[in-house]
Amino acid sequence: MVKSINFFVVWSLLALVPDLCFSLNTLGTGYLYPQFYDRSCPRAQQIVKSIVAKAVAKEARMAASLLRLHFHDCFVKGCDASILLDSAGSLVSEKRSNPNRNSARGFEVIDEIKSALEKVCPHTVSCADIMALAARDSTVFTGGPSWEVPLGRRDSLGASLSGSNNNIPAPNNTFQTILTKFKLKGLDIVDLVALSGSHSIGNARCVSFRQRLYNQTGNSLPDPTLDQSYASQLRARCPKSGGDQNLFFLDFATPTKFDNSYFKNLLSSKGLLSSDQILVTKNQVSLELVKKYAAINELFFEQFAKSMVKMGNISPLTGSRGEIRKHCRKINS
Ligand code: HEM
Repeated sequence: MVKSINFFVVWSLLALVPDLCFSLNTLGTGYLYPQFYDRSCPRAQQIVKSIVAKAVAKEARMAASLLRLHFHDCFVKGCDASILLDSAGSLVSEKRSNPNRNSARGFEVIDEIKSALEKVCPHTVSCADIMALAARDSTVFTGGPSWEVPLGRRDSLGASLSGSNNNIPAPNNTFQTILTKFKLKGLDIVDLVALSGSHSIGNARCVSFRQRLYNQTGNSLPDPTLDQSYASQLRARCPKSGGDQNLFFLDFATPTKFDNSYFKNLLSSKGLLSSDQILVTKNQVSLELVKKYAAINELFFEQFAKSMVKMGNISPLTGSRGEIRKHCRKINS
């Protein structure tokens, strides 16, 4: 009898959790939860997934581009879809920033998802949540881990070009600068190493790592932490001048598969970006983490999922802050 009462009490309390989350979110307390659209748009997650699936089937790299878009959004004013806004009036788009210009991509896929969702449940699903879901689905479609995505973000009413230029780590930043940029967003060294594992998929342009291949005077290697024969392969398509936009796999071993070979590459001095390689050359804690993830894929996947949820929780707009955009590229007028 006592047991069944206890069970009833626990069950009733559990049933109230989504309502409690709803109330907290409405109050604007920043609380996100996976069931946010269960009543208002039950097909939301399925629609995002099917359009991401189609886009990735058409072009494998799109998975990487969508994953990166969420990162570049979250590091600027929080995960609020500010990166998606086009320039208009006094608003200057983050698409013009150094990390995004000629580099950030996937905007058309987000547009397609948004327009499909507007047809099924108008004015309900935020562009910021679409990006968080698309990042998760992209990871899964390329063989990575899955996780439940907390939802309920709203979209920003503005953008920050300076935030985009200053907060997003650059490939030639020092280890300390990159770690500081992560810490400013509430992420730690474990998140930094795990999330850098995103470079298990996708591409980088020659301009993003050229300085590692040449010094001022000749062809000799200024970066001794780069494997010599790998460097000479890279030089073939990333000359001293020209070819700036030529593309290279971030993970030469398994370029379209989300796995821990990125970490194995780092241990054999074959990280493409300086920001990748310094994870093993500049800090003992990050070196140990790289070794751990290189040795046991499962540990990488587990931490990656946790860190993605943490990144996705950076300063969301909830309650009545921000808005649900009709078109992801512009604020509602
Ligand atoms: C730790 C600091 C990081 C730095 C310095 C960095 C830098 C870069 C650079 C320079 C590129 C190539 C851009 C280009 O040449 O066009 C790139 C690509 C990429 N980054 Fe990062 N990144 C960092 C962390 C992250 C994180 C945390 C994520 C995701 C959670 C991420 C996901 C990606 C992906 C998936 C690509 C490939 C994109 C594509 O092929 O379209 N990166 N990153």
